[in-house]
Amino acid sequence: MTHNFSLNMNRIVIKLKELIKKLPFVKLAIHHIYIYVIHPLGLLNLGLYTTFRTLKFFKLKNNIQKWKASMRVSCHIIEKGLTMPDKRLGFGQERVLFVANEILSHLDYKNLPEINIAVGILKEYDKIHTENNYTLPFKLQDKIDDVINSYPEVASLSQIKVTIEDYFSAKDSSFHTFALSRHSIRNFSGSVSLEQLNDSIELALTAPSACNRQAIKCHLFNNKDIVQKILSYQNGNRGFGHLVPQLCILTVDLRMIGTNEQNDIYFNAGLFAMNLSYAFHFNRVGSCMLNWAVTPKKDKTLKKIAGILDPESVAVIIAFGAVNDKIEIARSTKMKLNDAVVYH
Ligand SMILES: Cc1cc2nc3c(=O)[nH]c(=O)nc-3n(C[C@H](O)[C@H](O)[C@H](O)COP(=O)(O)O)c2cc1C
Repeated sequence: MTHNFSLNMNRIVIKLKELIKKLPFVKLAIHHIYIYVIHPLGLLNLGLYTTFRTLKFFKLKNNIQKWKASMRVSCHIIEKGLTMPDKRLGFGQERVLFVANEILSHLDYKNLPEINIAVGILKEYDKIHTENNYTLPFKLQDKIDDVINSYPEVASLSQIKVTIEDYFSAKDSSFHTFALSRHSIRNFSGSVSLEQLNDSIELALTAPSACNRQAIKCHLFNNKDIVQKILSYQNGNRGFGHLVPQLCILTVDLRMIGTNEQNDIYFNAGLFAMNLSYAFHFNRVGSCMLNWAVTPKKDKTLKKIAGILDPESVAVIIAFGAVNDKIEIARSTKMKLNDAVVYH
């Protein structure tokens, strides 16, 4: 009985499908409903889902992940300051005070790498200021001394100082050695050749992309005035932006993305960007990604001044150029394996 019923239902569905095929306006209507109603609602649903999840977790206070992120950011800002081309002694005092207070008020976290790294960076900050006879404000020096005395066993975390030859020496080494030798460069001497640039981009095009759609575009800028104008809208190049000779604005073409892919486009661009960063390193080009986390208003302004077509979305900006003979590089210590994996 049930079997007969489902057979009949199947026949009815097939008949209906055949009927719909014979009525072109029904087919067209269904197509329009999908394009103008179902598809946009799906995109909206994904956008709201992403936004609400971000809102839910972004503002959560008193959790260790948030604390780790804030310590990593603050420490990175200080280590960047220690390696800037035109080092400005006495820099980042508020940030240093914040980190010192966090270290001293979180003795319960003393075994975490974030504390170890922060103490090492403050020791280096102290060392450089002492060596250069720069007197920090008493209150700040007092806090730094408290940190140093509380962690006598932690070594000062010196930044990387290398010559250009050493920096690029792993070009033909194993991937293991090559990957360990790449760092973000914020210390440029001038432009690289078109050949170095084109070779790098061709190599970066080996990056995987969803359905091999390759929706990225590299917008390249070599002119000093336009480079500086673009950088004036970016918030992470203080202290080295004035020396950046060339820029790549990496975009993704929204006309080429598929269903439910509005977050994936940035993932695809990220894979290309990482490949480009290795390709640059291989071709003796120094580079540093620059975040493009901005308001829609700023985004529109950048696209206008950079001549980027409306359907393209900016994923990231990459500063690049020839590297100085002697450079200092922020160490940017990486997580240990245990922090990065969850074995299921
Ligand atoms: C998406 C992204 C945005 C970044 N934005 C900036 C930035 O605005 N300014 C900057 O100096 N570095 C920026 N960086 C570089 C990071 O600080 C750097 O990759 C990190 O400290 C790790 O160092 P490493 O690249 O030497 O391994 C960015 C990196 C990424 C991946």
